[in-house]
Amino acid sequence: MTKKKVKLKLKSNAKKPLIIISAVIIVIIIIVAFYFNRIGELKNLGYSEVAAKSIIFKFKYSYVMGIGENKTLNAAFESNDYLEDNLDDYAKIDYDDQEHLISNINKLLDKGYSDNEVSLIISKGDDESVSDFAKRDKVKYIEEFLSIDFAKLENFDRYVEYQDKENDDAETTVLYVNMDFDKEDYVDPLVIDKFDDYVLVNKHRQLSSDYVPDDLVTIDEEYVKADGDVEIERNVAKAFYDMAEAASKDGMELMVSSGYRSYEDQEEITNTYLELYGQNYVDNYVAKPGFSEHQTAMSLDIASKSVDTFVNSDEYVWMMDNAYKYGFILRYPRSKEDITGYKCEAWHYRYVGKKIAKYIHDNNITYDEYYVMFLDN
Ligand code: DAL
Ligand code: ZN
Repeated sequence: MTKKKVKLKLKSNAKKPLIIISAVIIVIIIIVAFYFNRIGELKNLGYSEVAAKSIIFKFKYSYVMGIGENKTLNAAFESNDYLEDNLDDYAKIDYDDQEHLISNINKLLDKGYSDNEVSLIISKGDDESVSDFAKRDKVKYIEEFLSIDFAKLENFDRYVEYQDKENDDAETTVLYVNMDFDKEDYVDPLVIDKFDDYVLVNKHRQLSSDYVPDDLVTIDEEYVKADGDVEIERNVAKAFYDMAEAASKDGMELMVSSGYRSYEDQEEITNTYLELYGQNYVDNYVAKPGFSEHQTAMSLDIASKSVDTFVNSDEYVWMMDNAYKYGFILRYPRSKEDITGYKCEAWHYRYVGKKIAKYIHDNNITYDEYYVMFLDN
């Protein structure tokens, strides 16, 4: 009797669990659809799949949608170093593609740096230098120095030290330290390992003794005013021929007295001038081997066909007015001796291309300054 009764009861209630299960399934479908819809929306805003999932699981969907696209937020939500307390800061700090970005942001905020200071520190360093900096106690003058476009985090202490000594404004300090003016000539030079047409060689930047440019050509004999051949980089030769042709239309006869010089050539020249004129002359006019722009094959010493002392020639005046139009700059001008480290060389021209040559000419700066401001990164 009892058995029969139970059986009947089960049968009559069988619909209830089905309804519950169906309801649960519908709710799950809605939640999943909702979830994927939100993931899609976040991805449309530029967030990665990993970041989007993390945003939803941390209940920050509305917050992130309110901010919109933000690469630093994306990196924060992708990272295991994410800290909820720093969320508003992540949103305000500029992004940089650095491996330890979020952990370094956390450390710098913890030291008491503002969002703007953290952005500057990150933008002026690489992952390694920012990581080192984040380990240090808080320092002053971050905005003063690092808000200058071409400042480098790795030089920060040198800026502070140099300004203490020289009392220059912050921009000059950054420029001069980046040009290594806080170091003696030829002491602790940078050994150049990146070679292109824009290479900067000076008393702080050295080429290795075995560096030989790979596209040397010999200048046509008719343009050579020297014993033996003059070699130069192919594009420099082309630009010189264009310039010489234009000059000849103005009645000028441009010649070349020196071009590419090997390390050994420069060694020989240094020794010859040392014997003839002494150390002071060499310091002012001759680069030590490895430190000569002539080893780059991007420089030419220009001569006049008819006048032996170039500075007395019409060609000298023509070059001063026109060389930049063909991509050449006077590399060691009289007004810039303190910057170049050489006494004026009226004859020494460097090929940098028309755009840069015009900028340098129009703004009356040296290639050393141009390089530090625009090319050194
Ligand atoms: N005269 C220039 C500075 C050189 O020797 O390279
Ligand atoms: Zn020269």
